[in-house]
Amino acid sequence: MSHILITGGAGYIGSHTVLELLNLNKNVVVIDDLSNASRESLNRVEGISGKKVTFFEGSVLDKELLSSIFSQFSFSAVIHFAGHKAVGESVKKPLSYYHNNVEGTVILVEAMLEHNVNNLVFSSSATVYGEEAEAPYVETQKLGSPTSPYGQTKLMVEQILADVVKSNNNFKVVNLRYFNPIGADKSGLIGEDPSGIPNNLMPFIAQVAVGKRPQLSIFGNDYDTADGTCERDYIHVTDLANGHIAALDWLVEQNNGICEAFNLGTGTPYSVLKVLKTFEQSTKVKVPYSFEPRRDGDLAAFWANAEKAKKTLNWSAKKNMEEMMVDTWRWQSNNPNGYAN
Ligand SMILES: NC(=O)c1ccc[n+]([C@@H]2O[C@H](COP(=O)([O-])OP(=O)(O)OC[C@H]3O[C@@H](n4cnc5c(N)ncnc54)[C@H](O)[C@@H]3O)[C@@H](O)[C@H]2O)c1
Repeated sequence: MSHILITGGAGYIGSHTVLELLNLNKNVVVIDDLSNASRESLNRVEGISGKKVTFFEGSVLDKELLSSIFSQFSFSAVIHFAGHKAVGESVKKPLSYYHNNVEGTVILVEAMLEHNVNNLVFSSSATVYGEEAEAPYVETQKLGSPTSPYGQTKLMVEQILADVVKSNNNFKVVNLRYFNPIGADKSGLIGEDPSGIPNNLMPFIAQVAVGKRPQLSIFGNDYDTADGTCERDYIHVTDLANGHIAALDWLVEQNNGICEAFNLGTGTPYSVLKVLKTFEQSTKVKVPYSFEPRRDGDLAAFWANAEKAKKTLNWSAKKNMEEMMVDTWRWQSNNPNGYAN
């Protein structure tokens, strides 16, 4: 019986992907060190799906643990979500980010090669296009230089994986470049549960709406955009999860020596103010806000050209902004303290 190994599967995107895989009756094994997640997310995934997840608490940096997991199961593929993701923290602790995200991937791929597991889907990011890139970002454009150590880790891992494929014709890789995942499973039982003050817009809006924070800070209202606030390509996390399944299905059918990147976004930019207004209209909850100075490193606007995933993977995002808002609110209002409830 073949399994799929999900690293970081207790996290935000990982848990939603595990749920979609279980709904398709796939056998899933998760490894997560719970550095930014709760075991409760997987308990809930089991509750929603009525299926079991095999879970190992530990790090992809732990060679012995990986070797033991790879010896116990026959894996058809690995989806590699595990990594630290806070841009600001990566500027303060670059070595921790290079160690965890880059070395963690090297150790994981070594274990895959040792055990002859040849299909890898990697969580990359739109940040690899760099700050000079012109939107919409398309996979054929030259990659830039991300400004943060976090972004650098994604670019480095993509380069390392390309080199591994060149050196080993059996190995196959898909790099999925995510845009801005938001929303939550429609059950309202799993969702994004950031620790501390959220770095991203959507959990910040949701926490203000639920009364955990007094007001939303909007960083910058003088950008060269229609309403002066930053524009991003927001994608529902369930659409994103299904993008992984489409990528995996495609990858296993390919001949050897594949290293392909796909943008996972909707192709439509939304400004911060537009997201906020849609949230208020869809949920009937007011969110007080104030404008604050721009944050270092924030780009005015970027979004995906999402055509390649549509043509090649037969995948495109289905859920609109209202659904993203309603689903976020269902999760946040039912779980004001996230998984700590
Ligand atoms: N959320 C986004 O906006 C976004 C955008 C682009 C790319 N990504 C990437 O997608 C992946 C998943 O993101 P997410 O939003 O679900 O983040 P998340 O923090 O919720 O999930 C990452 C998971 O990996 C685990 N983890 C971290 N280091 C580990 C290690 N060494 N061994 C085992 N587990 C480890 C964490 O505990 C967490 O559960 C990350 O690699 C992230 O960089 C996220």
